[in-house]
Amino acid sequence: MAIKTLEEKFAHGLGDIYDAEHRFLEAQQTMLEGANSSAVQAMLKKHISETEQQIVNLTRVHEALGLKAERVACDAAAGLVSEGNKLLKETKDVPALADLAINGSCSKVEHYEIASYRGLIMGAEAMGQQEVVRLLTENLQQEEKTAQALESSMPALLTQAMQTASRAA
Ligand SMILES: [Fe+2]
Repeated sequence: MAIKTLEEKFAHGLGDIYDAEHRFLEAQQTMLEGANSSAVQAMLKKHISETEQQIVNLTRVHEALGLKAERVACDAAAGLVSEGNKLLKETKDVPALADLAINGSCSKVEHYEIASYRGLIMGAEAMGQQEVVRLLTENLQQEEKTAQALESSMPALLTQAMQTASRAA
């Protein structure tokens, strides 16, 4: 369908991230089953419950704009999830590598979400939709914190992976 107004473009972006969050929620549940380190498991559990709340927030954003919350198939999210699942399968025999793979895949997802929310927030600001800005900012801040947590847990995971590699050699 042709998009002709800023509102339609915004609604499309909203439906896209709404679909993406559903896909990422499911993907994180798969990652949790494949996670080995307790730190990675804890991070996933925390962000799974945040993601559930984010989906609720997105439903509220739709309501605030008088829109029906509808998922618009997000090819980027589908691609990120499929890539993450593939890498998880390929690394599953070496627990430290699987944890590293989960961390990296989640990090890519968070940055996709951050870019999406920043763009939507700017659009909502331009349209003067303050409640929408507030709800989307809640989501953005959780994604930013998660991205930071993922990056700071990377060194320990790398050390773990290097120790595993030297044992295997
Ligand atoms: Fe997220």
